[in-house]
Amino acid sequence: MATVYCELIFRREITNLFTLTLYKNILIYKNHYVKVASMDNLSHFDSQPRSTTDTGAITALCKAAGDPLRMQVLKVLQQNAYGVLELCQVFDIRQSAMSHHLKILANAGLVATRREGTTIFYRRNESHPDTDLQALQHVLFQTIDDAALDPALRTRLESINTERSAASVAFFNQNAARFEENQDLIASWSDYGESVESFLDNSIAARESALEIGPGYGQFLGKLSATFKQVTALDNSAEMLEQCRTRATSQGLQNIDFKLGDTNLAISEGLHSDCISLNMVLHHNPTPGDIVSACAQLLNSGGVLLITDLCAHDQDWVQKACGDLWLGLEPQELTRWALSAGLVEGNSLYLAQRNGFRIQLRQFVKPLSDNP
Ligand SMILES: C[S@@+](CC[C@H](N)C(=O)[O-])C[C@H]1O[C@@H](n2cnc3c(N)ncnc32)[C@H](O)[C@@H]1O
Repeated sequence: MATVYCELIFRREITNLFTLTLYKNILIYKNHYVKVASMDNLSHFDSQPRSTTDTGAITALCKAAGDPLRMQVLKVLQQNAYGVLELCQVFDIRQSAMSHHLKILANAGLVATRREGTTIFYRRNESHPDTDLQALQHVLFQTIDDAALDPALRTRLESINTERSAASVAFFNQNAARFEENQDLIASWSDYGESVESFLDNSIAARESALEIGPGYGQFLGKLSATFKQVTALDNSAEMLEQCRTRATSQGLQNIDFKLGDTNLAISEGLHSDCISLNMVLHHNPTPGDIVSACAQLLNSGGVLLITDLCAHDQDWVQKACGDLWLGLEPQELTRWALSAGLVEGNSLYLAQRNGFRIQLRQFVKPLSDNP
């Protein structure tokens, strides 16, 4: 029987040197037996570690994710952010229990928070703060994303999203007459419209069809109408759509089809387009990532998605005054949604406003090799 000294690295709290017994290639420590192939196999413990991460951090990450409920929370937060009360509704558990699970996920760096007015929203932290753990987390999230979501959770999630959407539609229906006034509080079309139009000129390959989602007052429709053979204006607020139709008619725009609905309608009617525009729409929607993904589905190969939206900000008065659901969007989150929907990032432009808002103009392209 030979005696070897080895630093036990399997548990963070045991860092002292222990005397281990090696008998017939079996390491014996207390009541634990570990089979090793030969003494040579221990030599790699002496070499320099390739990262500074200790195994405790890896354990914390695995433990945090290694719970059925927390795993489903990570799945639910795949594309969208939710508040703790909404998550309680989805998982049908008490707030104290949900807060406990969220704390574990946050401590392990798997979720991050963002305050939106008076509510704290939880979202998945796609980039783990410890760079050495990013690869592990990436594989974990990918595997979770591929797994099925419990149907009961899906149903409750859909009802929360529907509630949030209904509030947004109601806002635009009630405030259609004050649309420009409200718009000017944040950024008027004259502040960013010209940039959006020149962005369009630099973007398009095919000029057959365009889909504008949320045309609002219709300020972009003149340009779209002049650029494309056929344009569809799709708005989920009847009042806004009517205003926009009246305006387009008074301008003599002939090639526009007005539709009441959202991307679900566009998909069910197969409204495939060479260009889709989303100007100041995503921050009004409960699940902006799903809209980006629907747009990717609706784009023809080589088609372009143009997004104009506010960058993340902290001016929470816009929620009441302008019906905003989100205080802007993080540019990198927008990129992540688009890339995970199979789009390729094109040009970007950022415009600073005097009132502190920043506007992002983004271009995403559907690769030619994809099916139309
Ligand atoms: C802030 S306005 C922006 C209007 C216009 N695009 C602009 O830049 O001035 C948002 C518009 O999008 C519409 N909208 C919001 N979410 C929508 C959705 N999911 N589908 C269709 N229209 C939507 C609203 O009814 C409203 O007309």
